[in-house]
Amino acid sequence: MSTENTTEIKKTVPQAEDFLPIMGTDYVELYVGNAKQAAYYYQQAWGFQPVAYSGLESGSKDRVSYVLQQGKIRLVLTSPLQPGGEINAHIDKHGDGVKVVALWVDDARKSYEETTKRGAKSYFEPKEVSDEHGHVVLSGIHTYGETVHVFVERKNYSGPFMPGYKEYKPNFQVKDVGLKYIDHMVGNVGWNEMNKWCEFYAKVMGFAQMVSFDDKDISTEYTALMSKVMSNGNGRIKFPINEPAEGKKKSQIEEYIDFYNGAGVQHIAVATDNIIETVTALRDRGVEFLYVPEAYYDDVLDRVGEIDEELEPLKELGVLIDRDDEGYLLQIFTKPVLDRPTMFFEIIQRKGAQSFGKGNFKALFEAIEREQNLRGTL
Ligand SMILES: [Fe+2]
Repeated sequence: MSTENTTEIKKTVPQAEDFLPIMGTDYVELYVGNAKQAAYYYQQAWGFQPVAYSGLESGSKDRVSYVLQQGKIRLVLTSPLQPGGEINAHIDKHGDGVKVVALWVDDARKSYEETTKRGAKSYFEPKEVSDEHGHVVLSGIHTYGETVHVFVERKNYSGPFMPGYKEYKPNFQVKDVGLKYIDHMVGNVGWNEMNKWCEFYAKVMGFAQMVSFDDKDISTEYTALMSKVMSNGNGRIKFPINEPAEGKKKSQIEEYIDFYNGAGVQHIAVATDNIIETVTALRDRGVEFLYVPEAYYDDVLDRVGEIDEELEPLKELGVLIDRDDEGYLLQIFTKPVLDRPTMFFEIIQRKGAQSFGKGNFKALFEAIEREQNLRGTL
């Protein structure tokens, strides 16, 4: 585990209060119907490496979890072993989806105190769990929908993941695809709820607003949405929050809310240093990406100027390009990775740009509309 401490982390978003503070995303936990098969998918298709396991063999009677890692991205895939209970209820209502966005903090007790005194609803009170590798302090609060944040203090722990887990070392090994860290995680919330949840992140977590997009920025002829991006002080945690907006046809956010039965995590953006290699590897292993019409590439360089990469492989893969004052970025979006049209991934490579691809919204949403049309949900 990293021994990095908070004093080394530079503050990049001066308006943010940063009273927690957060060093990064610790893990993302999905509640899924079949964790064993989901773990295989994320290893085989996405190149995540096995790290830790909790289940009957490690003394867990009611649930099983697989912990996978690539770069700094840690996924936990959890399924229930018995009928009833909160995990089954979550899967019944939402399908597979993100339950926990865990945040790596220096002091989980203080993080709980600071956020609950500012109005956060408790998920669980601070608790210490330990084994022969040391101890971890955990606490949790609720956020939008049934999603929660767990604060993880692991400075006194040296095991593979957490007490209760043992090392997971299957014979099956795959090569990673070059994913480095979580760039941002987007939440979809219901009609007129965006501001409420941005205020939650500002007031309860001390985050500041980076940018906002209204329905004029993010609309096509048919559909629209609104979005604001909230960031913590060191910029390591960026949470854009989307809400649906009125259009001629059904917003992709409304489609998500309908199938997820409420607010939840829409996409996880993961960073790479070489998007061409990463996306080529993912595609070869069966990950499906949104299709962008070839015409997008006819004038893209007029819009974004010179870039280091050859245009041809980007076009072949369907990678989108955008530029802001600080540089440019390359990005691509997968189709939903679950049966319900809910969660998907974004692969992003930043070459200076700190924005989110505003210039691509129209091309992207037209691509999503084509998919919605095929599903009969437009
Ligand atoms: Fe994104």
